[in-house]
Amino acid sequence: MEKVRRMAVSLPAGLAEEFEKAIRKRAYSNRSKAVADVFREHLSGLEWQGGRGNVVGTITLLYDHHTRGVTDKLTEMQHDFGGAILSSLHVHLDHDNCLEVIVAKGNAKRIEKLANSLISARGVKSGKLVCSRTG
Ligand code: NI
Repeated sequence: MEKVRRMAVSLPAGLAEEFEKAIRKRAYSNRSKAVADVFREHLSGLEWQGGRGNVVGTITLLYDHHTRGVTDKLTEMQHDFGGAILSSLHVHLDHDNCLEVIVAKGNAKRIEKLANSLISARGVKSGKLVCSRTG
């Protein structure tokens, strides 16, 4: 078994309460495992940032396709990064909203740049890049 170290931390009461609620919802059997998972997730997020090495990642976008030009703009950006994009999935969620998930691979800085330009495009309501380091 991995060696463990006890840590005491102080959190704002509201945040601690939110955390307890979230781990109950996810049916965590113990709080230490939940904290360790949050640490790991955060650290792996930090690890690939900063532009060094290669990553594989997903970029999730939610947008209103009625916003003038948004669909063309997003497609154009993806063509400009053609070599980096492995696959994409488009779901027509409802009358207004589209969900797009793009799988991309390459230099961390380049993938981050691609994600930032897609996420900040006019009409995109929310977006997120999730990456794992590949080398
Ligand atoms: Ni659509």
